[in-house]
Amino acid sequence: GAPVEADVSKLAPGEMMTVEWQGKPVWILRRTEEMLATLDKLDDQLADPASDKSIQPEYAKNKARSIKPEFLVTIGICTHLGCSPSQKFKIGADSGLGDAWPGGFLCPCHGSTFDLAARVYAGKPAPTNLDIPPHKYLADTKILIG
Ligand code: FES
Repeated sequence: GAPVEADVSKLAPGEMMTVEWQGKPVWILRRTEEMLATLDKLDDQLADPASDKSIQPEYAKNKARSIKPEFLVTIGICTHLGCSPSQKFKIGADSGLGDAWPGGFLCPCHGSTFDLAARVYAGKPAPTNLDIPPHKYLADTKILIG
């Protein structure tokens, strides 16, 4: 499939947009500093914190799983059986996932949970983190996916 351009100039901090690439939803989440800070504390709760078993380009194999920490670009398809996880960005008691929930995604099909870098929590059915598609920046706020 052809690469797809995404204009992220209107994306507010904490918001997510979806573009379609190769028939799949690609999420672009603009993470706040507060959201990024949560990523440092989760390693011992995650199945593959360093993304060794997960799929991403080499340039996104880092803690934020991204080129620029601010923007997460990930494929919104659960690596278990392919459902689409929901956004659960609210942190703590408001989230519906308990006081300690630091924000992330929840797959409604079998309950896999993912952090704000799309890394799966340990003991959940999804075997790996969500896939990161190949992408690059054409300009500060223009991303080419594919
Ligand atoms: Fe997501 Fe099974 S498809 S947990």
